[in-house]
Amino acid sequence: MAGDVAGKDLLHLQCHFGMDTLNWARLGARVTGVDFSPVAIARARDLAEKAGLVADFVVADTQRLPDSLAAGFDVVVATYGVLSWIADVDAWMRGAARALRPGGRLVLVDIHPAFQTVLSFEPFVADWPYGGGEAQYVALTGTYADPSVVTAPRQTVQFPYSVGEIVTAAALAGLTVERLAEHTETESDGRHILPRGADGLYRFPFSDTYLPIMYSLRAVAPRTSKAGG
Ligand SMILES: C[S@@+](CC[C@H](N)C(=O)[O-])C[C@H]1O[C@@H](n2cnc3c(N)ncnc32)[C@H](O)[C@@H]1O
Repeated sequence: MAGDVAGKDLLHLQCHFGMDTLNWARLGARVTGVDFSPVAIARARDLAEKAGLVADFVVADTQRLPDSLAAGFDVVVATYGVLSWIADVDAWMRGAARALRPGGRLVLVDIHPAFQTVLSFEPFVADWPYGGGEAQYVALTGTYADPSVVTAPRQTVQFPYSVGEIVTAAALAGLTVERLAEHTETESDGRHILPRGADGLYRFPFSDTYLPIMYSLRAVAPRTSKAGG
């Protein structure tokens, strides 16, 4: 989805400990990763050093990206577990748009809002709003990184956005949406709730068909004037 990144300046938003950021560096991009967790960024820097890869890592809130990142990138990427953590999706999109050079592209791959509504399949429970952006308080005792780990109970706040709200936020930020794809199968289920098919893939069964699990959005900054305002 990010296409050929060789020789490109690539900004990875919400990069966590930088694993994917460094994969894009291996593919030849000049990479910068942003996350608001200083611990995650310290781990990312450590990983880059151990891997012998050149990468910049910045501690910042993706709703308030620093001016130093403005208009510096050919590609802005964010993947898997992005917008549900964001209180202000319009500010997030404006920041992504502002980071792009004219003609640069945003690639956002994230959990589909329809799938996000589902808590469990057996029994089937849907307990999240489909969009609206209202804060949802969720008690967690684990981590998405390892389903076998049980952590001390903690409360998280997350925000549901519909496909329409996400696409509209991109448009309001001055981006042109080239493609919004909805994906009905995936090789892994980060939420650990989907049934796995005989072919090893996970799907979201609905009647005799499937609902989308992930979406991918590709949007482009204007070639002449600056997007993001
Ligand atoms: C589910 S993880 C993303 C995982 C990442 N895509 C990967 O593949 O490793 C969500 C990340 O978003 C970061 N995050 C959440 N809210 C943020 C914000 N407002 N600004 C910057 N980072 C944020 C978290 O610290 C966490 O690293």
